[in-house]
Amino acid sequence: MSGALTLPSWSTAVLAEVEAELERLLPPAAQAPAHLHGAMRYAVLLGGKRVRPLLAFAAGELLEAPRARLARAGCAVELIHAYSLVHDDMPCMDNDVLRRGKPTVHVAWGEATALLVGDALQSLAFDALGQPGLADDAAVQLSMVRLLAVASGSAGMAGGQAIDLDSVGKRLTREQLETMHRAKTGALLRAAILLGAACGSGSVEAQPALERYAAAIGLAFQVVDDILDVETDSAVLGKTAGKDAEQDKPTYVSILGLDTSKALARDLHGEALAALAPFGQRALRLRQLADFIVARKF
Ligand code: IPE
Ligand code: IPE
Ligand code: MG
Ligand code: MG
Ligand code: MG
Repeated sequence: MSGALTLPSWSTAVLAEVEAELERLLPPAAQAPAHLHGAMRYAVLLGGKRVRPLLAFAAGELLEAPRARLARAGCAVELIHAYSLVHDDMPCMDNDVLRRGKPTVHVAWGEATALLVGDALQSLAFDALGQPGLADDAAVQLSMVRLLAVASGSAGMAGGQAIDLDSVGKRLTREQLETMHRAKTGALLRAAILLGAACGSGSVEAQPALERYAAAIGLAFQVVDDILDVETDSAVLGKTAGKDAEQDKPTYVSILGLDTSKALARDLHGEALAALAPFGQRALRLRQLADFIVARKF
């Protein structure tokens, strides 16, 4: 394991395809309303690890999915993720001023625009999934749209964010914390993996193993995010460190302590790798992404 993305040539190629697809999907900055379009591009294009599109590609390549479809599906999830970060940072939520090493969208573009950026990125994500050619069968494509809708909504990311806001200053049980993390973060990671798989063939047979992998990696991702908030500098993170304690948010670190949280992340990493056993060598990229998610330093 290492803190850097340990799959350089594969990820470099995927990231280039992802950036090109995001560029294609986002309206030009000069197109009216230019302020909104400029802010949408700022929110999406300037940084980010692109873990969700990378997961979509890794799952899709396992099932020999066409790369253009993977770019579209992965970017749809990335657009929802970018919207969730814009709203997460707003004064009414985490009130953060730094994201991906730059001023947050509401700081740079104004609060009302930040709200609209989130709205518009969410719509753009579903436009991307609805465009012709994502699947041969319209019923499959419709199920992909619904998968992202459920993952983004009150049963997924938005619901998890609601629990997060409602939990400030409260002491959650470990079970409640897990429920919150699986919803606010795990749901979109799972969507990325399953949408990538849906772009290929044999996704029904692969689904049980991918579900196990997604469950482990989805929770591990937020456990590590909680650890990084305590252990890493803002300069490395690209976002304000120490925010969780400052805002009295229940996190894995606040409830289990640093050492137990790290042990849990390692256990979840092991679970993720075990889930991939049925795929053998074909799961190389998913294994490497699991390594990265747990070992990352930002
Ligand atoms: C941060 O997500 C918010 C969480 C869901 C934990 P990432 O760590 O994927 O953020 P970017 O996209 O790389 O900036
Ligand atoms: C946010 O969790 C999860 C989202 C759905 C955006 P955090 O509030 O911990 O994310 P960061 O630490 O600000 O990136
Ligand atoms: Mg938050
Ligand atoms: Mg936050
Ligand atoms: Mg955090």
